[in-house]
Amino acid sequence: MSLIIDGKKIALQIKDELRAAVADLKKHHNTVPGLAVILVGNNPASKVYVSMKEKACAEIGVYSEKHLIGEDSSTEELIGLIETLNKSEKIHGILVQLPLPGHMESKKVIESVSLSKDVDCFHPYNVGRLLTGEPVISPCTPAGIQELLLKSGINPEGQHVVILGRSNIVGKPLFAMLCQKSKGANATVTLCHSRTNDIKKITSAADILIAAIGKPNFVKADMVKNDSVVIDVGTNRISDKASEKGYKIVGDVDFEDVKGKVRAISPVPGGVGPMTIAMLMKNTVNACVSRIKATGRKQQ
Ligand code: GUN
Repeated sequence: MSLIIDGKKIALQIKDELRAAVADLKKHHNTVPGLAVILVGNNPASKVYVSMKEKACAEIGVYSEKHLIGEDSSTEELIGLIETLNKSEKIHGILVQLPLPGHMESKKVIESVSLSKDVDCFHPYNVGRLLTGEPVISPCTPAGIQELLLKSGINPEGQHVVILGRSNIVGKPLFAMLCQKSKGANATVTLCHSRTNDIKKITSAADILIAAIGKPNFVKADMVKNDSVVIDVGTNRISDKASEKGYKIVGDVDFEDVKGKVRAISPVPGGVGPMTIAMLMKNTVNACVSRIKATGRKQQ
């Protein structure tokens, strides 16, 4: 019997711990962690993600602000808002939901977020710190995957981890995290992408396979090793006439095909998704704690 990794349950445990930490910050420092979420345009999937992030803030007592910006706003307008939030005392974390509309300069936008409020860990400085093994903050989805593995009793140390997908949000930062000489990492990591030759040969050699390639049901049973671990990061909408909404969400892994062959597998939904949000909450609370420590030092 394969272990079905319950990301929802693990995320709930993490949020319970964070709720207690938030109450403690209020009691001892009279400070409430605050997160600002910016959504540009009307991307339906982004709208769902943003409302899930707001809900998580409410659940653990984090203050949240949602800023909705019109699809045709300029890069300068968006950066203007970010600069205001950079200065806000109430805000400890700023998240700009990606993707931005095509006309916007995403790089400039990401670089305008204050380093200490970059709860996504998208700023090139924070990405660099991650690569050199001196992270100030950890990116939400990769950190959620690492936590999901460790809390399920699966240690990547010494294992061959194969990552499918080289995105800046998942594949590349996850590679940087898992190859570090540190606890919960120390893995041998192979990164595959759309131009990789003979992907099946590589995925079949993985002790831990992490699929973040954005292709519905891409990973089949004949691509995985017996008794390996499979983590599915995909969130793909595919049409489903039987559903009221007309679509359903599936991962990058053909769950029904693969689940009988592996030792453990994370489902979609209910696997990595809830962990990403739990890690965002953790980063926001940590950013608040860091601010308290920094201002305390200044006052001394
Ligand atoms: N779009 C898809 N995933 C993410 C994420 O983790 N953070 C942000 N800001 N945008 C995203």
